[in-house]
Amino acid sequence: MAPDLLAGRVAWITGGGTGLGRAMALRFASLGGKIALCGRRQEPLDETAQTIRDAGGEAAVATCDVRDPDAVQAVLESLVEQLGPIDILVNNAAGNFLCPSEELSPNGFDAVVRIVLHGTFHCTRAAGRHWIETKRPGSVLNIAATYWNTGSGFVLASACAKAGVVALTRSLAVEWARHGIRLNAIAPGPIPTEGAFSRLMPSDAMLESRRRKIPAQRFGTPEELADLAAFVVSDAGSWMRGEVVTFDGGEWLRGAGEFNDLLELPPETWEALRKGAGG
Ligand code: COA
Repeated sequence: MAPDLLAGRVAWITGGGTGLGRAMALRFASLGGKIALCGRRQEPLDETAQTIRDAGGEAAVATCDVRDPDAVQAVLESLVEQLGPIDILVNNAAGNFLCPSEELSPNGFDAVVRIVLHGTFHCTRAAGRHWIETKRPGSVLNIAATYWNTGSGFVLASACAKAGVVALTRSLAVEWARHGIRLNAIAPGPIPTEGAFSRLMPSDAMLESRRRKIPAQRFGTPEELADLAAFVVSDAGSWMRGEVVTFDGGEWLRGAGEFNDLLELPPETWEALRKGAGG
């Protein structure tokens, strides 16, 4: 990637103090971007910003809960004051946990949907109004999940919210194109981060069985996701509109193909099948 791919671009990354948000912040900064971070907790935001500054980059932080539209608006204004107008928004902040759906409380469903879907709307609306008012182009990247279109048991609220995030991405990719605003999404498969794996992959057995089912035979890395994200938000991706890039080592297709479980058949069973013994 060109080392100045994001030179001078101000990128607002929600949930940018930890995990995938932090990885994107560091990568965008290494490509010349100025990084505007927000999240609920001051400490990880400060740590990420300091890492960027120590490497010679520029970063600003502001705390908010993306569920609160007034706080989101205040954060946007503070970040613009610190770094100048925003060029890029990454809606990365998320909430998720495993839970049998019959045990999921209304408040639990609400918490996840309000972070993931409403939070994405609040930030996108604030950035979109900022771009339309100042007649500046903008690029939005939303982080979905591979189950956005299949649904998934045990993460019902997240599945509902991520489907909504893709609907938002595609709706506004068309509606706001006339304002020079692009929206795209990445649907990542499992990428180890403390926040996600402590909630979604709580045992070693679970970890190993998931890993084995990924055609690439490994989990993704935050750095790989950050590279893809940099391409999508940069001018190099300017013809991508309303796209959802699946990024999962082939895991989604592995689960979808009708006969893919035959990967687990031992050679002797194949031999028996070939001889017409019916396995
Ligand atoms: N299983 C079942 N219900 C759960 C739960 C779990 N593991 N974790 C939280 N809930 C429920 C709570 O019981 C509560 O419902 P109740 O009032 O009916 O009891 C509701 O969810 C809200 O919980 P609370 O902890 O008050 O919410 P919060 O707003 O402080 O936190 C969460 C939001 C729940 C999404 C929390 O996990 C979080 O902050 N996550 C952010 C980081 C994250 O999830 N990263 C992973 C991204 S993949």
